[in-house]
Amino acid sequence: MLLPGNDAEAIERAADALASGHLVAFPTETVYGLGARADDDLAVSAIFRLKGRPADHPLIVHVTDASGALDFAGHLGDPAQRLVDAFWPGPLTIIVPRAPGVAAAAAGGQDTIGLRCPAHPVAQALLAAARARGVRGVAAPSANRFGRISPTRAQHVVDEFGDDLIVLDGGDCEVGIESSIVDCSGFTPALLRPGQISRKRIEAVLGAPLAAPGADSPRASGTLESHYAPRAKLRLMSAQMLNTALQMLGDSALKLAVYSRTVALPPGSRLERRTMPDDPDRAAHELFATLRELDARNLDLIWVEEPPSEAAWDGVRDRLSRAAAA
Ligand code: TXA
Ligand code: MG
Repeated sequence: MLLPGNDAEAIERAADALASGHLVAFPTETVYGLGARADDDLAVSAIFRLKGRPADHPLIVHVTDASGALDFAGHLGDPAQRLVDAFWPGPLTIIVPRAPGVAAAAAGGQDTIGLRCPAHPVAQALLAAARARGVRGVAAPSANRFGRISPTRAQHVVDEFGDDLIVLDGGDCEVGIESSIVDCSGFTPALLRPGQISRKRIEAVLGAPLAAPGADSPRASGTLESHYAPRAKLRLMSAQMLNTALQMLGDSALKLAVYSRTVALPPGSRLERRTMPDDPDRAAHELFATLRELDARNLDLIWVEEPPSEAAWDGVRDRLSRAAAA
């Protein structure tokens, strides 16, 4: 059931549910999360079941503040501490060595743990209320079925999982794509998933370049090649290719939509078109909602114009290439 996220009673009710081992979906500034108390392996296993996610794909544990991270990480090394100081609360997840004996199911059996302190006021309120009930961290993947598009609105979560689940409504997620993930468990920090906080800003804080994620990097499902998949086939094309393809298409009966920044439809075309904003942050903000909206139209194909190659577009480009690989 949808509960208003700005209502104190709704927060208390959701925190009670979490404390007693139930699942609660809640907004963050990136996407909506599907949460369970991180210290309860049985509660966490319900997340894997509901999402259809393989049990060895680790979850991110959400904490109220930097000190909360120490409940799950033995200690933070220097790079992780710098990132926490610079970017928390905010859309950045760190992977650090896991404190022995805690949150094993949430960590998917890894000896590391993903930690994030979200900035969204509803997430903050929920985490604080849960903490007052003895819940030290909330494990939460994106609130979508495994491999599908992450939800950026409360209604998307209801569309995924139905009306039995408690969903705190916090409106549209501002960032719109998932957090940047930096693996700080190895010798040199590596960017496992690009997000709104860019590689450049992360490297500036670390004072050193990030390593390329290596073969020995931990497995991250958000880094699987096919992910964020709409039901329609999604194709990424350069502006030139997209123009040519549209000319060649003529009056075909294909159910096709175009999602482009610079490429317009040929005159008289009756295809659906959505315009991608020129600003990468605005494009990220709208991306998943647009893909969901198009997908609800039962299309055969979605043709997407490739985003610019600049680093600021890394997050959007990453999500679109994974959607195209499905
Ligand atoms: O913005 C976000 O990060 C959202 C919101 C809800 O906080 N959460 C999210 O969770 O995107 P999820 O589960 O959809 O993606 C988490 C990613 C996965 O790719 C997972 O494999 C990776 O983080 N991850 C988590 N813990 C890890 C670990 N210990 N080692 C390596 N990867 C890890
Ligand atoms: Mg996800």
